Amino acid sequence: MLEKVKELISEVESAVAKTDQEVENFRLKFVGRNNVINDLFDEFKSVPSEQKRELGPALNKLKNQAQEKLKELSNALNSQSSSVSDVDVTLPGTFGKEGSVHPISQTKSRIIEIFERQGFNVEDGPEIDNDWNNFTALNFPENHPAREMQDTYFVEKNPDILLRTHTSNVQIRLMNKKKPPIRSIMPGRVYRNEAISARAHCFFHQVEGLVVGENISFKDLKNTLYHFSKEMFGKETKIRLRPSYFPFTEPSAEIDISCFICGGSGCKICKQTGWVEIAGSGMVDPNVLENCGIDSTKYSGFAFGMGIERITMLKYQIDDLRLFSENDIRFLKQF
Ligand code: PHE
Repeated sequence: MLEKVKELISEVESAVAKTDQEVENFRLKFVGRNNVINDLFDEFKSVPSEQKRELGPALNKLKNQAQEKLKELSNALNSQSSSVSDVDVTLPGTFGKEGSVHPISQTKSRIIEIFERQGFNVEDGPEIDNDWNNFTALNFPENHPAREMQDTYFVEKNPDILLRTHTSNVQIRLMNKKKPPIRSIMPGRVYRNEAISARAHCFFHQVEGLVVGENISFKDLKNTLYHFSKEMFGKETKIRLRPSYFPFTEPSAEIDISCFICGGSGCKICKQTGWVEIAGSGMVDPNVLENCGIDSTKYSGFAFGMGIERITMLKYQIDDLRLFSENDIRFLKQF
């Protein structure tokens, strides 16, 4: 038996392994559950005790050597596989497709940038709000037909909770928490119950602006939007104001810009008129200021609101509103 043990010791000492499988074979033979050394330990129990004195230490040596060798073999193989690499680091890399900023977000950022340089700060508010903030405080009397101008999605009835139909709810919230001077813009998503088509969608984005202070006049409104239009659409841009109606502003005006495609001579984009509409605006109705606890004899203000989709469509001559929400990569990667 001693001979057998010595033979195995030399087999362990001289073992080499070039592959994982060879390491595994070594492990199975010498270290695994049914290894040869265990068999020898079983036999050891029945050998005469005078032989045990020599055989015992030899068996233990074999066992320890086998465990050590196994570690050695697998370490050698691992370090070999990581140092001999088939990666050619001089090859040009391959890159995943890079995303791009959505055109609506690009226009929104640009609008914010222009107004921030005129001293406006950005305010935010909830998309789900109550009737007071979206309608009543904005001078929409109950059951007034003006509410029909904005087809509303209701979340709850009595008391009414709704998806905001414009970002004007943020104006009310702002005037409730902060007193003049106010000079803010409110970008955000709004919802209207409209059939989806190339020209209308059930949700879209707006940026509204609100300025309240002492001696704020229509002149300030016109100047602010004139400056914005030149920055957004080019230095040559002219603006014109058309009388309009909104419950929360008096007087109210629609803002048109001279068509930046044809320069005013008439084209498809401006429907041959030379002008395109970009925003609604007006002087804040004194009732709205009073509804928010602002003294309308001391303060006045103006407000305006524009659709981000509309501005983007004009700027890039996009003719279908649905493209913005379809996530078609062929459309998005053009921006
Ligand atoms: N809230 C109006 C709308 O959504 C836009 C607007 C804002 C008009 C401020 C005038 C002043 O249609």
